[in-house]
Amino acid sequence: MATKLKPADAITVTKLHPRIGAEIGGVDLSRETAPDTMAAINQAWYDHAVLLFRDQHMSDEDQLRFAANFGPIAERVVPPAGAHRPSGPDWTNIMYITDGKDADGNPLGSLGHGEMWFHSDKCYRPEPHRASFLYGIDIPTEGGHTKFASLYSAYDNMPDALKTRLADAFVMQGYDYGVSERLSLDVNLEDILHYAQPMILTHPDSGRKSLYITRLNTMWIEGMDRDESDAILEELFALTEAEDNYYEHVWRPGDLVMWDNLACLHARTDWPQDQLRTLRRCTVVGEKLY
Ligand SMILES: [Fe+2]
Repeated sequence: MATKLKPADAITVTKLHPRIGAEIGGVDLSRETAPDTMAAINQAWYDHAVLLFRDQHMSDEDQLRFAANFGPIAERVVPPAGAHRPSGPDWTNIMYITDGKDADGNPLGSLGHGEMWFHSDKCYRPEPHRASFLYGIDIPTEGGHTKFASLYSAYDNMPDALKTRLADAFVMQGYDYGVSERLSLDVNLEDILHYAQPMILTHPDSGRKSLYITRLNTMWIEGMDRDESDAILEELFALTEAEDNYYEHVWRPGDLVMWDNLACLHARTDWPQDQLRTLRRCTVVGEKLY
């Protein structure tokens, strides 16, 4: 018997924060999603950059099927020879973000324990991951929240003189598996994942401008004196991370959160060392940004 698909007018969209995020109600992601419902979800995604679906019961396959509506599922990128490689099990397109360990103390997943600074997934790749999807499994009783910061509002709040001056600027985006420290600017670029990207994006779907920088990844503004670059980046990181510029998500098991890496940053807060936190992640690839 064919599964009955829910019509788009049955879904609800409720804002989570004045600048970013919405909760979508009335959708069961363990089933195929009807085309007109997908169109409504897509519009909400363009409008709000982060979408939350509560109380979902999703398998790996369900998560991959839903994500595939937004682009080709990304596969793991193996770091270049000589580059640092994180410990943890191999995976292809489903990554478990967990601090869990097996009986011998080996990590059961990726990204371990503790705070992680604001970043944008794979901004240091030629084709950054467009959307990321996280499903809540083991959730600590306190902490382990995910903050989502609006890059649209960060751009809107830039001083006009900087908007003009940096309109065509590029920044070097890098990553070396650190989670809460700036990259050393003296690092040999060939030893880390890196790519120069436009600093200000015109979003391919919403048409809005976003300030595409992150404290974890953005090393410098290309072609600028290093001290001046550092000073400007520090001023602009502060806009992205301002208290009124992010929604802080308090996880529940069964939450599926998806976000647009070209429109927001994400970060996680610390949680008690003796508590397990496990989330299941997949992503979809985007296009080159210029
Ligand atoms: Fe991430």
